[in-house]
Amino acid sequence: MPYILVAKHLHVWFALLTFVGFSLRFLWLIGRSDLLHKRWVKILPHINDTGLLISGVTLAIFFGYSPFAVFWFGVKLALIALYIVLGVLLFRTHQNRLYQITLFSMSFITYFFIIIVVLTKPN
Ligand code: HEM
Repeated sequence: MPYILVAKHLHVWFALLTFVGFSLRFLWLIGRSDLLHKRWVKILPHINDTGLLISGVTLAIFFGYSPFAVFWFGVKLALIALYIVLGVLLFRTHQNRLYQITLFSMSFITYFFIIIVVLTKPN
């Protein structure tokens, strides 16, 4: 399999896992689970997100996408920035549940739009 197909497969798996991990940590957050404070729970998302970033940048370089020249790619990166900010706010503040559920819902909608953008981009 050409290496770029490997990068694409890995990217899609990293993208899926990032949301699965995010949702799990959200459930542990509102359930006040001790699991949230385990070392591996803090480290694994960074490893996965690094893989997501490296595979994404590899694809962007291979296909020659610039966020300033390719509209959908610029929109995707802006949505990813928003997704990261929402995640930081969700896990770094000790807020009430309504606030946490609101932030998670906004993250979910943002993630959904990232998927819509990549699935509807022009070929
Ligand atoms: C939450 C984060 C992300 C999600 C959910 C996500 C999702 C996806 C998915 C599902 C695809 C496959 C689309 C297809 O099969 O045609 C894809 C492709 C791609 N992604 Fe991501 N991605 C994320 C982050 C990133 C990042 C950080 C970058 C670059 C810095 C990036 C760059 C790309 C590129 C260049 C492609 C290839 C598009 C093409 O085939 O023309 N992605 N992404």
